[in-house]
Amino acid sequence: MVENLVIRKLEKGEEFPYDLLLLADPSMEAIEDYIHRGDCYIALLDNKVVGEYVLIKTRPFTIELVNIAVDEKYQGKGIGKALVMDAINRARESKAKVIEVGTGNCSAYQHLLYQKCGFRMTWIDIDFFKKHYDEEIYENGVRCIDMIRMSMDL
Ligand code: COA
Repeated sequence: MVENLVIRKLEKGEEFPYDLLLLADPSMEAIEDYIHRGDCYIALLDNKVVGEYVLIKTRPFTIELVNIAVDEKYQGKGIGKALVMDAINRARESKAKVIEVGTGNCSAYQHLLYQKCGFRMTWIDIDFFKKHYDEEIYENGVRCIDMIRMSMDL
């Protein structure tokens, strides 16, 4: 399945894949903030959008993967890993020196995914979700309060 995956940049004028963006981030306010500051990449299988990720330049030499999602029907088949590796390669090609990502304290599978792709945990943004998200977020039966910051030298 991953062999047939096409990953490309979303062209100007194309519709953002909001359903997927909202799977990774329940805050439309946050999504609207970063999608216009960065580049959205989509993953297609037979011309159907099955995944996406968004990269933004945060500081000199630093790129952040701010949103990544795979359509629930297609999860667990290696598409997420292919998207993370694609994001790393594009960040490297852009001459960035570091790629960062942030995940919830409760997002255990995502922690494993990023570590399998070479990210390390670096610090914790205490109370990030409590401070900035109106609704309470739960995953794996645990409230998402803090953001685990991860990064990788390119
Ligand atoms: N159980 C255990 N491990 C899981 C898992 C599950 N249900 N789902 C993903 N993983 C971990 C595994 O470590 C797996 O590696 P492995 O195949 O070597 O075991 C790794 O993730 C990659 O799996 P993959 O199939 O490539 O991921 P995916 O296509 O399911 O996409 C997400 C992963 C996180 C993008 C996808 O689950 C998703 O869209 N989730 C909702 C949005 C989200 O949470 N985004 C991230 C915000 S930080």
